[in-house]
Amino acid sequence: MALLDSIEHFLATPILFVYQILQWAIDKLLSPAPPPPNAHLSRPKIAIIGAGLTGVSAASHCVGHGFDCRIFESGSRKALGGIWSKVNNTSGLQIHSIMYRFHPSIKWNKGYPNRQQIVSQVTELWERYGLESKTKFDTKVDKVYKDSDGRWIINDPANGYFDGVIAAIGTCGDPKMAHIHGESNFKGEIYHSSQLDGKSAKGKKVVIIGGGASAVEALEFVAHEDAAHTDVLARSEKWIIPRNPLVDALLSLNIFGMETLTSWIPETLLRKLFYRDLASISPPPGTKGIFTDTPMVNSDVLDLVRAGKATWLRGDIHSFTETGLKFTQRSQGVPKGGPGRDMVVDADIVILATGYQRPSLNFLPDDCFEDPYQPPNWYLQVFPPAHVDVCCNNCTYVNAIGTVGNYHIGIYTRLLLAYLVDPLARPREPLMKKWIDMTRWIKTKAPGGAFDFFTYGELLYWFAFTVAINPFRWKWALFVFFGIGDALPKHIVRREDQIRNGLGSKAH
Ligand SMILES: Cc1cc2nc3c(=O)[nH]c(=O)nc-3n(C[C@H](O)[C@H](O)[C@H](O)COP(=O)(O)OP(=O)(O)OC[C@H]3O[C@@H](n4cnc5c(N)ncnc54)[C@H](O)[C@@H]3O)c2cc1C
Ligand SMILES: NC(=O)c1ccc[n+]([C@@H]2O[C@H](COP(=O)([O-])OP(=O)(O)OC[C@H]3O[C@@H](n4cnc5c(N)ncnc54)[C@H](OP(=O)(O)O)[C@@H]3O)[C@@H](O)[C@H]2O)c1
Repeated sequence: MALLDSIEHFLATPILFVYQILQWAIDKLLSPAPPPPNAHLSRPKIAIIGAGLTGVSAASHCVGHGFDCRIFESGSRKALGGIWSKVNNTSGLQIHSIMYRFHPSIKWNKGYPNRQQIVSQVTELWERYGLESKTKFDTKVDKVYKDSDGRWIINDPANGYFDGVIAAIGTCGDPKMAHIHGESNFKGEIYHSSQLDGKSAKGKKVVIIGGGASAVEALEFVAHEDAAHTDVLARSEKWIIPRNPLVDALLSLNIFGMETLTSWIPETLLRKLFYRDLASISPPPGTKGIFTDTPMVNSDVLDLVRAGKATWLRGDIHSFTETGLKFTQRSQGVPKGGPGRDMVVDADIVILATGYQRPSLNFLPDDCFEDPYQPPNWYLQVFPPAHVDVCCNNCTYVNAIGTVGNYHIGIYTRLLLAYLVDPLARPREPLMKKWIDMTRWIKTKAPGGAFDFFTYGELLYWFAFTVAINPFRWKWALFVFFGIGDALPKHIVRREDQIRNGLGSKAH
């Protein structure tokens, strides 16, 4: 009956039906087979730090290709799913789920899944690949170091010896609470944007502090709750782009990963066709380009402002009063701290949409942080030049147009595996540094530096370039990009090893 219901449901929504078929085909073609229970997995053995979607996906790729791994997670079992296990039940994806397929076997049944659906996909993946017995919860990683035999140790040798490390600690740690003068004077309620479950905003005046994705999400929450009115206080401008997979994909395909001579085209189109009468909310022309900062993906926020349910105010917050916040509203183009109109913005509830603390990578050895090769200025942004056997997957980026939970998690994981298995495919430290220097040179004109902003198109070009440049990596191309055909490169590596050992013994 349930099957018939779902068939009927999918036939009634043809696009969703095609989406299901597409996901089914991707799963069949590209998912590595889960290892049988108690299978003997070979070395290299990988230590994975973090059980969010990146850590779980990376671990599934490792075991699916026959390599052993352990996941170390600082939180309890409830933390499986990482940041998605901690945010509001009303949180969900702003980008389309087709760009958030963090493993080929993921199956979304809607375009914009919510928090519970994301956590359940992570959990199912974790169970499907038998990762329960390989995950150590309540284990915060404080120290990662090599023993005298060059094996990685995670905190303590009792945790085992590893050949490679994947740090998958994310970018959103504990909630960041802004400290605003006079907080104790305020008679209303104050919450962080990730702590809204069970709160009621019905008929209340709400102020949201911050102008990022969490602010937009909080605005949707209070609008849904029927708040009397909401003021969003944003001290700087970010671009908002429509919740349209085609537009988002087109923007992410800018292969240069920075502003170009043609950037005015998408910027003008966005102002004219999307912002329209609210163009003054967008960053002023000639200042922050669309390819400099992570945009917010949302189509409702401007409609809420148009409908008079919310006001978007650009300006500086000074302090709390008993009934709200002292604020100076600035016009478009006036910098932070500049002149404007002073006012008190009344509030019953203040929501701090002021972001999250960035989790620290300080557990890595000091030589990973040597200037000028500190994160994100690493090889392919994730491999510290001093240690090619460490991959900081999804946790070094600052700003991007792309997606965190997508195909690249597998590509980075398989690159690490290829480097560990095949000494000839492994990049040497000076060449890794040369690639970083070259990328810096290509992106000399990027305002925030070469690695502070990137696009998905650029990331794919980085992968293609670094595989194509070294003939010893060609045999790995299918494996690295699609996770298939690892038998051939492994066979060639064995032959190469025999030849090199033969040459070595002759020379000796
Ligand atoms: C509300 C919200 C909505 C979002 N929506 C989108 C979206 O639409 N699209 C998008 O691309 N991105 C979105 N993001 C960004 C989101 O962070 C990523 O998409 C993704 O969930 C990151 O997964 P992760 O596994 O890399 O990191 P996390 O989910 O943050 O997981 C990291 C894990 O590592 C653990 N950890 C950290 N440090 C240590 C340590 N020292 N030792 C052991 N364990 C450690 C943490 O406890 C955590 O469980 C959103 C973020 C938020 C907060
Ligand atoms: N569904 C979604 O897609 C979704 C939802 C939520 C979060 N996310 C992701 O999660 C990450 C974090 O997003 P976020 O919106 O929580 O954080 P964020 O992008 O860091 O934005 C925080 C906002 O708060 C402002 N702010 C910080 N401290 C302030 C202070 N003391 N006074 C006034 N304003 C202050 C910042 O202003 P400045 O810019 O001037 O510092 C910024 O506008 C991002 O990667 C985002 O994409 C995604």
